[in-house]
Amino acid sequence: MSLLIKNGNIITSTNEYQADIYVEDEKIVAIGENLDYKADETIDATGKYVFPGGVDEHVHYNSFNSLGYEHSHAALAGGTTTVGDFVMQPEGVSLKDSVINYKRDFVDGVSTPDYIFHGIIMDPSDETIEGLKDVPSVGVSSVKVFMAYKGMPFYVDDEWLFKALQNGKKAGVTIMIHAENADVVNIRTKQLIEEGKTDVKYFPKSRPVFAEAEATSRAVYMAKIADAPLFVVHVTNQKAAEVIRQAYNEGMSVYGETCTHYLMLNDEVFSKPNFEGAKYVCTPPIRPQSDVDFLWEAIDRGWLLAVGSDHCAIVGGFEEGKKKGLKDFSKIPPGSPGVQDRLNMMWTYGVEEGKISRQKFVEVCCTNPAKVCGVYPQKGDLIVGSDADIVVFNPEYKGTIKFEDALMGSDYSTYEGYEQKGRAEKVFLRGKLMAENGKFVGEKGIGKQAMSKPYAYSYSKFKEKESLDDNK
Ligand code: URP
Ligand code: ZN
Ligand code: ZN
Ligand code: ZN
Repeated sequence: MSLLIKNGNIITSTNEYQADIYVEDEKIVAIGENLDYKADETIDATGKYVFPGGVDEHVHYNSFNSLGYEHSHAALAGGTTTVGDFVMQPEGVSLKDSVINYKRDFVDGVSTPDYIFHGIIMDPSDETIEGLKDVPSVGVSSVKVFMAYKGMPFYVDDEWLFKALQNGKKAGVTIMIHAENADVVNIRTKQLIEEGKTDVKYFPKSRPVFAEAEATSRAVYMAKIADAPLFVVHVTNQKAAEVIRQAYNEGMSVYGETCTHYLMLNDEVFSKPNFEGAKYVCTPPIRPQSDVDFLWEAIDRGWLLAVGSDHCAIVGGFEEGKKKGLKDFSKIPPGSPGVQDRLNMMWTYGVEEGKISRQKFVEVCCTNPAKVCGVYPQKGDLIVGSDADIVVFNPEYKGTIKFEDALMGSDYSTYEGYEQKGRAEKVFLRGKLMAENGKFVGEKGIGKQAMSKPYAYSYSKFKEKESLDDNK
């Protein structure tokens, strides 16, 4: 099977130019002007942008009460060809076996996009920490640790976090951190509920900015002591982002990700009528507009380097899921669907609004996520030898995000009613057509694991370009 894409405006994280792309056997074989291959299929991409398939390093398909992989084709409809999913570690099972079992039982033959796995430490013990050395053998080079949620099985205290950092470093495994001070969150939540402040509008007050900034800073210092890399996921605010920026500028391999909803929404969503605010409950919370503005600047200037969706379409959606917290915000299951909308929102509200360049869009939505997950350059770029994960993007399209177009399996759409400029006209996964004009047209269940290489993150891999951005 071969494919020739003619005359597109190719966008990568570092370049923009007009050329043809020739694909054979799932890989990009040639890029250049006036390519003269006899292909099974030829596409004229004149007037279109051509960029790498989106890499969403942060999705939940079976963790945190989320809907499984049956709806994973939604990613493709939105131009995302690779997702990074989290594997919960059952008690007494090693991280490595957790990955093997999870892949066999839930993912293999079901996932439509290609996928990367991140472990989640849920059973902190000497065996688990020792076992970090085995996870690269199953293609995993990142493991998430939750500093928040004391009292839940996935809570990990500082002792085990520090051990994980030290042992992860030895194994080439990067620790991803959910940074919120667990005690502050628990005490604030309890107090608010006792005071009768049970409405969803009090939810953000239970998880203050400084609880996130403090935990971020603690994790960064611990990483410094362990001389280990650290990936801070879902950074929501200026204070936490500044901690990361400073560590990064000091030469530490500390990186931050923010998520679509922290860029698109502000904390006014929690005051919507009819309990609608619950739709946007995720942890850490969506913040005031001043933080939203700072996050846009942070991604533009390279202080945060990736934008994930933190897609988490919870079981029961709004009606049967979120409404469990109608009388008590602390019972609202966290998470919102978003994997299908990430690229559309980042293009419309980032590129089209002039907040980020087209190249920055590719960098934070495709290239850097592939780098931090250790699957670059197989994923996240358009270069000879890369997987032929390609989006042909029509910048002229104008529309609106509608629930009826959502394929994510939830009963609501996080970005319902938002304007959309441009859309993926064709989405190819390893050379196979998977989506056209927002509709899934491919074969389900063909996703393969992209094996993450150990020691994926390194300061030097990112720094050169970022320092230029910094001087802007
Ligand atoms: O609210 C969220 N983010 N749900 C998913 C779990 C997590 O912490 O990423
Ligand atoms: Zn988290
Ligand atoms: Zn998450
Ligand atoms: Zn679908």
